[in-house]
Amino acid sequence: MSRKLLLACIAIVAVLFSANFISCSKSSPAPSPGPGNPCAGVTISVSATSTAANCTNNGTLTITASGGSSGFTYKLNAGGTYQLSNVFSNLMPGNYTVFAKNASGCEGSAAALVSSTSVISVTATSTPAMNCVNDGTITATATGGTGFSYKLNAGGTYQASNVFTGLATGSYTVFAKEAGGCEASTNVNVGANNSISVSASSTRVTNCQTNGTVTITASGSTGFTYKLNAGGTYQASNMFSNLTAGNYTAFAKDGSGCENSVAVTVSANNTITVSNNVAAASKCSNNGMITVNAGGSTGFTYKLGAGGIYQASNIFAALAAGNYNTFAKDQFGCEQSAAATITINTTAGSLFTNVKNLLAAKCISCHSGPSPAAGRDWTVDCQIVDFSALINQRAVVIGDMPQGGPMLTPAEKAIITNWVNAGAKFTD
Ligand code: HEC
Repeated sequence: MSRKLLLACIAIVAVLFSANFISCSKSSPAPSPGPGNPCAGVTISVSATSTAANCTNNGTLTITASGGSSGFTYKLNAGGTYQLSNVFSNLMPGNYTVFAKNASGCEGSAAALVSSTSVISVTATSTPAMNCVNDGTITATATGGTGFSYKLNAGGTYQASNVFTGLATGSYTVFAKEAGGCEASTNVNVGANNSISVSASSTRVTNCQTNGTVTITASGSTGFTYKLNAGGTYQASNMFSNLTAGNYTAFAKDGSGCENSVAVTVSANNTITVSNNVAAASKCSNNGMITVNAGGSTGFTYKLGAGGIYQASNIFAALAAGNYNTFAKDQFGCEQSAAATITINTTAGSLFTNVKNLLAAKCISCHSGPSPAAGRDWTVDCQIVDFSALINQRAVVIGDMPQGGPMLTPAEKAIITNWVNAGAKFTD
């Protein structure tokens, strides 16, 4: 309420009524007057206008009061002291309670705010830390105030310069503070820039030996040392030899300790060749044979079947018809295998045929049919082969067969003897 209006109001009140009968408060009409209390029925209206503070104590509050008698005094906050002036200056931003009291001691109050006009803002740029060295930088730019100082992170110390150097890779908070103490902050990242590049070449492992190599090449920095795999030890030479086949990680580290790595594979090259010479088994005899031929390395041993045992000889004899795998292993333990099939030779040899014909003429009257003598049936090829020694024993050496005679002639005995001496096989 303006001072003019207030005076006009008081004049009207004085003319029409007693001074305390009515209040000019805009907030509420006056209640009935009380008997002894001069403030009974009096409403003191208080309001305040403010000017904002700029992070320092340059705010103001101007209080306006009306109601009841005139002669107002003013104070700030409950604990303040009443003064004649209605203007309060040197105020920090914040919430206040303004009080006004008239000459009769009637008080009123109102809430008042001194706002902040702080418009400080800070931005920051950074340069990355190169090759693992703490050489990153941050440059801060602040606006909205004067007399700025700057610090890095909440625990830092304010400094005049807006440039921070020697920084490690990471996240930072940059603060700017103006002369009045107003702060602003922003987050900024110092990146990493590893310019070291690593490449690696390899040579293959031959025949399961440990003769692979890896050669590492690094660039983008100086003072390199090299290692193979994370658990390795850095060395001056970029060459690693005596390697087995497999996957490796090649590392290079520069003079300042900055690393980079690349994957490299040492592949295997097995030059061992294996082939088999196979001799068929003759009918009725498990006499198949495999001769293993290995090449491409040295110091070979040989085995038959994955579950076999390596031996020095490359010959496997007395084999039945069937499918086989032969293996050759060189002195370094490098294996190679080849398949072999043993077939049966079912073509009767002439010596066997002569014996069979002789037995058919002289013996099968007793040694054939459902119940052959001694259980031996000399019409069955494999019985002749299987019992060749017995036949020779009885018909040639002892001469008691055919039973009851006549004995075989020397020429007939020679037929048996010749076949037995040749090996007594179906194919002989
Ligand atoms: C007249 C019948 C008769 C004739 C022919 C005969 N055997 Fe025998 N053979 C027998 C009898 C019976 C036995 C069993 C008794 C014995 O071992 O002396 C036998 C046993 C054998 C045995 C022993 C078998 C064994 O498992 O011990 C042989 C080998 C044999 N004969 C070969 C011949 C030959 C070879 C001829 C022909 C050159 C022949 N036999 C002719 C009746 C005969």
